[in-house]
This record gives sequence, C-alpha cells and structure tokens, in this order.
Amino acid sequence: MNKCKICGQATTIIINFGKMPLANGFISNPNSKEFFYNLSLAFCPMCFMVQLKKTVKPEKMFHKEYQFISSTSQIMVSHFKEIAEEIINRLKNKKNPFIVELGCNDGIMLKHIAFRKINHLGIEPSQNVAQLAKRNGVQVLSKFFNEQVAKDIVEKKGTADIICGANVFCHIEDINSVFRGINILLKQDGILFFEEPYIYDIIKKSSFDQVYDEHVYYFSGLSINNLARRHGLQLVDMKHQEVHGGSMRYYIQKIAGTCPQSLRSKRCRRGKQKIELKKWLNKEKQMKLDKIEGYLDFKNKVNKICKDLKTLLSTIKQKGYRIVGYGATSKSTTLLNYAKIGRDLIDYISDNTPTKIGKFSPGMHIPIKSYKQFIKDQPAYALLLAWNHKKEIFAKEGNYRKKGGTFITYFPKVKTE
Ligand code: TMP
Ligand code: ZN
Repeated sequence: MNKCKICGQATTIIINFGKMPLANGFISNPNSKEFFYNLSLAFCPMCFMVQLKKTVKPEKMFHKEYQFISSTSQIMVSHFKEIAEEIINRLKNKKNPFIVELGCNDGIMLKHIAFRKINHLGIEPSQNVAQLAKRNGVQVLSKFFNEQVAKDIVEKKGTADIICGANVFCHIEDINSVFRGINILLKQDGILFFEEPYIYDIIKKSSFDQVYDEHVYYFSGLSINNLARRHGLQLVDMKHQEVHGGSMRYYIQKIAGTCPQSLRSKRCRRGKQKIELKKWLNKEKQMKLDKIEGYLDFKNKVNKICKDLKTLLSTIKQKGYRIVGYGATSKSTTLLNYAKIGRDLIDYISDNTPTKIGKFSPGMHIPIKSYKQFIKDQPAYALLLAWNHKKEIFAKEGNYRKKGGTFITYFPKVKTE
C-alpha cells in the first residue's frame, strides 16, 4: 500500500510513467551506467496532497554538480528581483529584520537583499550553486533545512521576520520536518511565503513534464491549507504566478500570530487578500482537486499528447526536415523518456547553461549543444522543451521564426507556431 508522506493515509495512483533517469542527470559519457527509478504520481484523499509514490534520495539530486542554475533566464532574474522588492517593502517599518530563504540557488533573489545590507541567510544544499550565491555577496549555509537546522539558526541569529522559498518546498520529502522547523524559526508575527508549480495548471494543461524526481509534491491551496494547519499555521493568501508554466505563491502565518503590520493598510488589504484566497480555493474545488475524480482524465490526456507529438515529429522527419530541441530543461527528461523521443527524431538540444553543453540528455542520450550552434544551424523545427520560458524565447527568436523556423509546442495540445 502507498502511504501519504504527510498524513499516512493510503494514496491512489494517478499515472505511472515507468522507469526514469534523474531529470538533471545529464551525462558526459552515453555508455556509462545510469541511475533509473520508477516515476509515478499519487493522490491522497485525506489531505489532498499530490505526490510521488516513490522518491529518490536527496543526496542523489542536490550535490556539488547540481545542474540547475536559476539565473539562466532573464524573466526569472526579473521575477526574483520583484520578490526581493516585495520583501523590502514588507519590512519597511521593521528594525533590523532577518530574512531566511530556503534553496537560494545562485543568490538570484537574496543578492538584492544582501546589496541592501539586510540581515539574511540562504540555505542551499547543492554546494556548487551555494558557492555562486557566496560570490554574489549572499550569506549561505550549505545544508538541507530541517528542525535541527532551524534550532541552530535561531541560536546563532534569532528568529526570522520572513522565511521564503521558490521551487524548493515541493522538493523536500520530509516537509513535516520543514514545517516544524518553520514554526521554530518564524517570529510570532512573521510571514512565510513560497511559490511552486501549481497542480491546477498542471491538470488544466496536462503539463505532465512537471512530474520528475525533484518534485516530490504538487501543491494546491487545499493541500497547503491542510499541511499548514497540521503545524499550527494558516494559509492567508495565494498569488498566481506565470513562471514555470504556472506557479502559485502561498502566504502563511502562525495561527496565534497577529496580522503583520506590513500586511495591513488603512483600507484593510487583508480583506482583499481573503477574497483572492477564497477565489483560488473555490476554483480548485470546482476542478475537484480534493477528490480523485479531478485526476482521472489526466493519464488519457497525457498519452494523447505523447502520441500526437511523436506522430508530428516522425512526419516532419520523414519529409527530411531537421528538428532540434530548445532548452535542456529538467522537465524535458520526463517528456522525452515517457514519449520515447530520441536521437532518431531530435538531432540535439540547444541550451545556454555552460555545464550542460557537451553532455547528453538523461536516458535518451541526445547531445546538448550550445545556443551558438542553434543560431548557426537554423534548423527548420525547434521542439520547445523550455515551453515555460516561451514568452522570453519567442521575443528572442523573432528572427528565427521570420526566416522560416517553426516551434513545436505541446501543452495543452500539440501544435506548430
Ligand atoms: P527550467 O525550465 O528548468 O527553468 O530550465 C530552463 C533551461 O532552458 C535551462 O537549462 C536554460 C535553458 N534556456 C535556454 O537554453 N535558452 C533560453 O532562452 C532560456 C530562457 C532557457
Ligand atoms: Zn495525506
């Protein structure tokens, strides 16, 4: 029986993807032995959390050669600058505030806080990216966050006014320990906020490639509400974000805590926030995200997308055109391996991350080449694996499209554009 990692209740499988390599397991030698695990997605009818049935040890994913560097996208750079501005704004009236970010990556957000000389700490277990954050002037602790780490921080630096994170909470299997740690580390009137890919968007678009080893959980407001309550906390607001193909930012406070001054305004912004929260919780209920019924169609829709995409790629290939992948994203590992799209269909994947270039994609072993190569080759078709960065990429690739280049996209359905 599969038990919920949060409440222990029996879970139901939504989809089983079978054997998968690590999403960021880019390899230098295609003949070397690769690690595979079974990827399947499950739903808990008790606490509504969507989660991986079986997980991979964190040390296998987040280590000294972690391949995901946040600052490779300009939109993400501006997005994190905006988060920093929101934090600075919220702390305007606080004396010597303290901010903790879980999973600070290369310091994409905290560098703005550090620049303002605001007391902060980034927690980043992947040593190579933690090193990049240090070079950006950020104070970093290279550890996995849990209760004990929270106690150590409180002892050395005191409690935090703000604890935040982006695309990190869904990575942590022992999320109960993280929430216990947050209870220890957060000031009574402090605020926790984090944003992660949103299950509502995933189900709506059938964007199944968000499902991979690093994403243990797929949050909704309904499941976060339950998780927060379990730990004496409450969900007070939700703000939808366009990034990462649709994310949700959750705002959480201590139940006994008073509303932080910065959240109040003369016209009671809190009242307005409650409307936003209610709106999203209602939308989730309408989509039945608190019942297995809400997830029953997902598998069929995913399989149709894979079938249509393979048919399109094969037809293009048969006509003698060249297809190149655009963006060696973590999520493309699920798409390429589940749909079995290999070198027979895709010549190579273009990517702008220096450490990925020259390597091979996990499982399907498609070579990763530089963006320069893409510009030089001008392939007739580009499979948009970094579809979550579509706006930025289409703005950048106006010339490619003008010259006759065509992008292939696949969520919510396969098309050329
Ligand atoms: P992500 O979807 O996990 O954020 O990863 C995006 C990947 O796509 C990352 O490896 C960088 C790459 N990329 C490009 O190669 N060109 C681009 O213009 C953008 C935005 C991303
Ligand atoms: Zn549960």
